[in-house]
Amino acid sequence: PETGPLSIIVLGASGDLAKKKTFPALFNLYRQGFLPSDQVQIYGYARTKISDDELRDRLRSYLVHDNGASPEQLDDLSKFLQLIKYVSGSYDSEDGFCLLDKDISEHESKKKSAEDSSRRLFYLALPPSVYPSAYNIVLICCICFLFLAGGWTRIVVEKPFGRDLESAEQLSAQIAELFDEPQIYRIDHYLGKELVQNMLVLRFANRFFLPCWNRDNIDNVQIVFRENFGTEGRGGYFDQYGIIRDIIQNHLLQVFCLVAMEKPISLKPEHIRDEKVKVLESVLPINDDDVVLGQYEGYRDDPTVPDHSNTPTFATVILRIHNERWEGVPFIIKAGKALNSRKADIRVQFKDVPGDIYKCSKKGRNELVIRLQPSEAIYMKLTVKKPGLEMSTEQSELDLSYRQRYQGVTIPEAYERLILDTIRGDQQHFVRRDELKASWEIFTPLLHRIENGELKPIPYKPGSRGPTEADELLKEAGYDQTHGYTWNPPSS
Ligand code: BG6
Repeated sequence: PETGPLSIIVLGASGDLAKKKTFPALFNLYRQGFLPSDQVQIYGYARTKISDDELRDRLRSYLVHDNGASPEQLDDLSKFLQLIKYVSGSYDSEDGFCLLDKDISEHESKKKSAEDSSRRLFYLALPPSVYPSAYNIVLICCICFLFLAGGWTRIVVEKPFGRDLESAEQLSAQIAELFDEPQIYRIDHYLGKELVQNMLVLRFANRFFLPCWNRDNIDNVQIVFRENFGTEGRGGYFDQYGIIRDIIQNHLLQVFCLVAMEKPISLKPEHIRDEKVKVLESVLPINDDDVVLGQYEGYRDDPTVPDHSNTPTFATVILRIHNERWEGVPFIIKAGKALNSRKADIRVQFKDVPGDIYKCSKKGRNELVIRLQPSEAIYMKLTVKKPGLEMSTEQSELDLSYRQRYQGVTIPEAYERLILDTIRGDQQHFVRRDELKASWEIFTPLLHRIENGELKPIPYKPGSRGPTEADELLKEAGYDQTHGYTWNPPSS
C-alpha cells in the first residue's frame, strides 16, 4: 500500500451529508486502522465561521451514540477528532482555499520522507450549484504543488449529477476540463452496499446461476426501493428532482446494470464499467404504458413544495432490453416514498415449470430474492413437499440470512467502503462519465414528459403500497405474486 501524507478535505463540512455519512465513514475507517494517525489529516471546509473545536463538538454526536459507547470507542473518538481541522471560506473566492493549501502543505512537509508522495482527496459534500466554482478553485489553489511532487489528487462528487442529459453532460464537460476521468470518483452509495457488491460474485462465481440467467428461464425481474417515510424536511430539494432522479436513474439503475450486464472480461474496473455501459445502451426507449407515477397525499402540504407540484414521489417503470439475453424480459423498477415498509430488494422470478405435474397444488414460482436492506439476505423461493404423510406441496426457501450466517461480522457502511476505494484508487464501484450519459439517455425523455405535464402522478395514501395501477402494471408484465407466503428473517 501507498504511504505518505494523506489529506482528506471534506468540502461542505457543516452540511447534513458530511455529518451523517462522510465523517462517520471516516471514523469507522480510522477505527479499523485504514487511516493511520501518522499519515492522515482531515480538513473540514465550509462557509460557516467556527473553530476546530466547534466542528469537533458538532460531529461528536454523529460519530458515537451517547448511550452505549464503550470506553475504547470514546478513546478512539477523541484521537480521531484530533485529526480534524477546520478551515472556513467561500467557494467563489480563492482566500479560504489558499489558506487550506497552506495548511495541507505544512502537514505534508511535516509527515513526508524522501520516498513518499502526497495524496489529496477532496470530498465534495456540496450543493450542485457551487460545484463548478469549487472545482476551479481546488484546481487553482490546491493541486499545483502535487504535480511537482508526484502525488495524486482525487475528487469525490455526489449526486445529483445534473437534471437531465443536457445538464449532466454540461457538468461532465466542466469537470473534464479540470480533472482527468481517473481522478474523478462519482459516488453512488448503492454501489457500496454489501449485497450490491455481491451481485457479480453471485452471478459469475456460481455454476448454478450461469445457465439460468436469461430469457429462457427468467420471466421478469423487479428492483424495488421502498421507504416508509415521506420527504420530511427535504421537500424543497426533492420537488426539484422527484423519485426518478432521486432513486431510479442512479441507485436502482446501477443495481439493474449489475443484474443484467454481460460477464466482464476481467474484474478490472474498466472492464466492469464497459459492460455496464453496454447494457444501458441496449435499453429501449421507455413506453408511456410502462410507467405508473404516484404522489402521496399530503406531500404538497410541505410549505417548501409548490401547491400544484407534479413531482412524483413514486414510480414504477418497466425497462426492456434489446439483446440476446433479455429480449422480452421486463425489468420492473419501482421506488416510492411514504409507502408501507422500508426495504430494497431484487426479485428474479423464474418461468413456470414446463409440463408441471404439480401444477394444481402449487402456490408460486421460483424466485431469487436479494434483500439489499434491511436484514441482508439472499433466498430462493422454491416448492417442496409439505412434511407429513400427505403428498402435498408448499412454498419454502433456501435462505442465506446474513445476520444468522455471519454472526459477529459487521457489515461496513456503504460510504465507508467507497471512501476506502477512493484512497486505494479503485474506481470499480464508481460511475464513469459514459455510464452517466447512458443512464440519463434512458430517463430524460420521460422526465421531460413529466415536466411538461403530459404524465401525471396518481395520488396514493401514505403508508400504502402506492397506486393500485402499479400493481396492475406488474401483473400485466407477468409478475406472479405468491399469495399466503411471507419470508421472515431468522431472528438470530
Ligand atoms: C439518497 C436519496 O440518495 O438515498 C434519499 O436522496 C434516500 O432520498 C436515500 O432516502 C436512501 O438511501 P438508503 O441507503 O437509506 O437506502
